[in-house]
Amino acid sequence: MIILKNNLIICCSPISDSCSNKIKNGLIDILKKRDENVEVRDLYALQFDPVITENDISSAFQGKYREDVIKEQEYLKNADSVFLIFPIYSSAMPALMKGYIDRVLSQNFAYSYNSDGSINKLMTGKTISTFSPMGAALKYYEESGVKSAMDAIFSATFLFRGFEISSINYFGSDNREKMLSELENLI
Ligand SMILES: Cc1cc2nc3c(=O)[nH]c(=O)nc-3n(C[C@H](O)[C@H](O)[C@H](O)COP(=O)(O)O)c2cc1C
Repeated sequence: MIILKNNLIICCSPISDSCSNKIKNGLIDILKKRDENVEVRDLYALQFDPVITENDISSAFQGKYREDVIKEQEYLKNADSVFLIFPIYSSAMPALMKGYIDRVLSQNFAYSYNSDGSINKLMTGKTISTFSPMGAALKYYEESGVKSAMDAIFSATFLFRGFEISSINYFGSDNREKMLSELENLI
C-alpha cells in the first residue's frame, strides 16, 4: 500500500494577488504534481479569530478548546508537513498568523508540561517551513541582524513544540524573483 504524504498549507495574506498567494498556488501545484495530499487553510478566508481569551487559556489547561480551534487542530494532526505562508509585517509575522499559533498550537495540543517542569513536544514527527515575502531587501535584513532575530524567534516557536524545521524562507526585494522561480527546490 502506498501512503501519500499529507501536506498542510496555512496561508495568511489579505491581498488576493499577493506574493504570498503566488507562493501558495506554486506550492499547491508542486505538491499535487508529486501526487501528495494537500490541504489549504486560508486564515483570511476563514476569518480566523486570532484573539486569545482568558477562557481559551484556562480551558487549554484541561485540553479543551473552542470549535474553530478544534477544527484547525484536526488538520494539524493529519499533517506530515506544514507550510506557513505569511508576509513580514513590522519585522515579525502578522498578528493573524501569530494568533493562530497562540490559539491552535496551544498547551496540551502542541506541547504539555510534566509535573517536574519538563516539556512534552507534541508536534514531534512533523516538519514545518515558512515562506515570507517582505518589502525590504533580504541583504539589508541580514546586515542589520533582523533576519537572525526573526530566524531565532520563528525557530524557537516551532522547536519548542517539537516540529523539525525544514526551512525558513524570505522573499525580499533582492531575491524574490529567484526564490519564486526556485520554489520547487525549497520544499
Ligand atoms: C502592515 C505592514 C507592515 C510591514 N512591515 C514590513 C517590515 O517590517 N519589513 C519589510 O521588509 N516589509 C514590511 N512590509 C511590506 C510587506 O512585507 C511586503 O509588501 C510584502 O511583499 C507583502 O507580502 P504579500 O505580497 O504577500 O502581501 C509591511 C507591510 C505592511 C502592510
